[in-house]
Amino acid sequence: MPIPIMADTLPPSLIAMLGDDIEILDWDTRPNSPALPRIAGILTYGHPLVDGALLDRCPQVKVVSNFGVGVDHIDVAACESRSIPVGNTPGCLDASTADMTLALLLAAGRNVVRGDRYAKSPEFTHYDPSFMIGREVTGATLGIVGLGRIGKQVARRAAGFDMRIIYHNRRRDEAAERELGVEYRSFDALLTESDFVALNCPLTPETRGLMGPAQFARMKPNGILINMARGPVVNHEALHKALTTGQIAAAAMDVTDPEPLPRNHPLLALPNLIITPHLGSASDRTRRRMAEMTAENLLAGLKGSPLPYRVRLTR
Ligand code: DGY
Repeated sequence: MPIPIMADTLPPSLIAMLGDDIEILDWDTRPNSPALPRIAGILTYGHPLVDGALLDRCPQVKVVSNFGVGVDHIDVAACESRSIPVGNTPGCLDASTADMTLALLLAAGRNVVRGDRYAKSPEFTHYDPSFMIGREVTGATLGIVGLGRIGKQVARRAAGFDMRIIYHNRRRDEAAERELGVEYRSFDALLTESDFVALNCPLTPETRGLMGPAQFARMKPNGILINMARGPVVNHEALHKALTTGQIAAAAMDVTDPEPLPRNHPLLALPNLIITPHLGSASDRTRRRMAEMTAENLLAGLKGSPLPYRVRLTR
């Protein structure tokens, strides 16, 4: 008998990794859903909410396996209190997410997206050397907020651009300072000193709304913000004000709140804001490895074996 699990729409490659013994039921969290009492596992492939109320309706669930490292959409404490392990995909996406951080930093600094639109438009009739003068990345100061696995890879890449790198973290990391040549700053000092601020932190109660009006006011008027974390880390109203009043020069965000933004959202009209559709880990090699880790966690949990990549609650 195949084992029923509930999942968002999955790509064929991931379905193949789960094997023939798994029956995939469509995501359906209605209280009267006939699927919920049957399912033995949950596989989250987008960012659907998994909370205590849902778990209470799924008495047979043995594992929650998340495709991705960030688990802010899963109430891990509620899972643990029901002895349901939660798996995620740490490590494998650090490089690709760091690559994307640099891609957005360069794109925002050097007008790549505006330049592309202009160069393809009828307005581009002659080369004008005084047009679209961007921000030099080489030698600029980069402030990394969240020097975890991804933040450290961002620092390595930025060093290749001769950037001066400062960071802010919950805890100062002296080993990383020695290894990467980065300098610790308070959050306020980082905002004041940085030419580019890169958010590479997880979404937690402490980082929700981290960038608000007071923080934008501290940034340099020609400063550029890159958000690779989660949408709610940045107060979008404050961002809109900062970008339209010259408090900062530009921003690039791979994540928004909500995601996607409503199509008439005022941020979508701003020429000095780049938005990409959550592409941080979207490279072929990384997404393949994420699928393997997700499948390994799910299959282990269904067997009652320890998950190879288990989320631990940090208090
Ligand atoms: C992650 O791994 O957290 C990515 O943002 C995809 O969810």
